[in-house]
Amino acid sequence: MKKQIDPKIKFFKEISALIDSVGDLDKLLYIIIQTATKVMEAKASSLLLLDKKTNKLYFHTATGEKRDKLKKFELDRGEGIAGWVVEKGKPLLVKDVSRDPRWNRKISDTIGFDTHSIACAPLKINDEVIGVVEIIDREDGMSLRDEDMDILTAFADLAASSIAKAQNIRDVKDENIILRKELEQKHQIIGEGEKIKKVVADAKKVADSKATTLIYGESGTGKELIARLIHNQSPRREKPFLVINCGAIPETLLERELFGHEKGSFTGADQRKNGLFEGADGGTLFLDEIGETTHAMQVKLLRVLQEGQFYRIGGTTPITVDVRIIAATNRELEKEIESGKFREDLFYRLNVIRINLPPLRERKEDIPLLVNYLLEKKSYENNKPIPVITKEAMDVLISHPWYGNVRELENAIERVVVMGDGKEIKVENLPLDIIREKMIKSPAIGVPLKEAVEKFKKDFLLETIKYADGNKNKAAKILGIQRTYLHTLIRELGIDI
Ligand SMILES: Nc1ncnc2c1ncn2[C@@H]1O[C@H](COP(=O)(O)OP(=O)(O)OP(=O)(O)O)[C@@H](O)[C@H]1O
Ligand SMILES: [Mg+2]
Repeated sequence: MKKQIDPKIKFFKEISALIDSVGDLDKLLYIIIQTATKVMEAKASSLLLLDKKTNKLYFHTATGEKRDKLKKFELDRGEGIAGWVVEKGKPLLVKDVSRDPRWNRKISDTIGFDTHSIACAPLKINDEVIGVVEIIDREDGMSLRDEDMDILTAFADLAASSIAKAQNIRDVKDENIILRKELEQKHQIIGEGEKIKKVVADAKKVADSKATTLIYGESGTGKELIARLIHNQSPRREKPFLVINCGAIPETLLERELFGHEKGSFTGADQRKNGLFEGADGGTLFLDEIGETTHAMQVKLLRVLQEGQFYRIGGTTPITVDVRIIAATNRELEKEIESGKFREDLFYRLNVIRINLPPLRERKEDIPLLVNYLLEKKSYENNKPIPVITKEAMDVLISHPWYGNVRELENAIERVVVMGDGKEIKVENLPLDIIREKMIKSPAIGVPLKEAVEKFKKDFLLETIKYADGNKNKAAKILGIQRTYLHTLIRELGIDI
C-alpha cells in the first residue's frame, strides 16, 4: 500500500522549496504565515518584528480579515503575549486568553477581533530573538492545541532562516557597494582645469575601443590613474587590469613575467607559469615606463602587438590572447627614436592614441582642489582630524614647481598631516624643502641689486623665524649667526614680527 504523505508535511516541503525562489523577503514572509494559517486551519496569524532601535514590536505581516488594522499597533518588549515570548525566547500557547494576565486585550478589542486562544513562537537568528509568529484560534471555533504549537515553531524557524538569509545577501551587497566605492575613491581623478578635463574626456572616449594607447607624462602626473580610468570605463572592466613596470626589472625577468614559461625552460622553472599577457586575457595590460625597455624586448613586444600571439618561454605552441595594451612613458620617445634607443615601428604601434598628461606646474588651478582632497584622504588614512590650511600656506603650495607632480604633492601633504596637530596648517608647518624653494625665488628682473638683496634678506629672516616658532635663539642658530646680530638685522631691515 502506498504510504500517504501527511498534507501538513506536503505543505511544509512546498514552502521550503519556495525559500530560494522568492526574491522578495516581504512576499516570502507573507507566504509563510499564510501557509501556516492554512495548515493549522487557524483564523488569523501575524508576524511581528522587534525594532532594535526603539525596542518595540511592530506588525510586519498579518493575515485574516482585520489584518490592515493591525499595522498601527506597537508593543513594548515584554508587553502582551508576543512581548513575553520575545522576552523569554520561548514558545507559548494560551488556550484561554481571558484567563491569562499576560494577554493585552486592547488590540483585539480595538480591531474588533474575538480572540480565544493564541499560539506564539519566537523568531530566532543565532539565539537572538528578532520577533515572533503568532496564530489566533482555529477556524472551527475550537481552541488551539498543543500539537499546533510544534507546527507553528517549525514555521517560525522557516521564517527566521529566510530573514537571516536575506540579511546575509543584503550585507554582501552592501559590502560590495562599499568596496566598489572605496576603490573608485582610491582612483578618483581630481581636477577641474581645462587641461585635466580634456585628458579625462579623451580617456573616456578611447575606453570603448581596443586601440593601443600611449600615455605620456612626467613622473607622478597620474599616468597609472588614467590607465585605470580607461580600463574601468571600458567593456573590459570586469576583467583584470595588470601592471608591469618595464624599467624596474632586468630583461630576462621581464620576459618571463610578460610571456610566462614552460616547465624546464630554464634552471628553476619546475612549473609551467602563465605570464601577464595570459593573465590579462580579456582585460588590459599596462606597460609602465615602456621607454626603458631594451631593443630585444621591443622586438618581442612588437611581435605580440602585430600578431596578437606569442610563445611562452620554452614553448612551441603559439598562445592567442585578447589584451588591450596601454603603455606609459616619461621620455620623449620621438627623441629616443632619433638617438636610436627606441624602435620606430614599435612607437607607431603604441602611439595609435596618445594622451598627454600635463605636469602639475602647468595646471596650478587644480592645486587647491588637490590639496583639499589629499588633506581629507591622508587624514582619513592616518586616522587624524582634517586640518584647515591657511591662505598663505596654500599660496606657497600653488607657487611650488612640483617637479615630482601629484605624487610629490601627495607625499608632502601626508607628511604635514602626520606631523601636524590636526588643526591648522600654516606656512611654517610645510616641509622645509618646499618653504626653501619659495624663499630662493628671485625677485622680478629690473629691481636694483641692493633692493633685491634687502628683500631677500627680509623674507629669508622672516620665514626662518616663523619656522623656528618665533623663537629667535633657535632662528639665529639655524641661520648660523649670533642672536644679537639677528636682532640688529631685524631692526635695520624693519622686520615686523
Ligand atoms: N588628478 C589626480 N587626482 C588625484 N590623485 C592623483 C591625480 N593624479 C595623480 N594622483 C595621485 O598621485 C599619485 C601618482 O599617480 P600615478 O601613479 O598614476 O602617476 P604616474 O604618472 O604613474 O607616476 P610614476 O611616474 O611615479 O609612476 C597616485 O597616488 C595618484 O593616485
Ligand atoms: Mg606610474
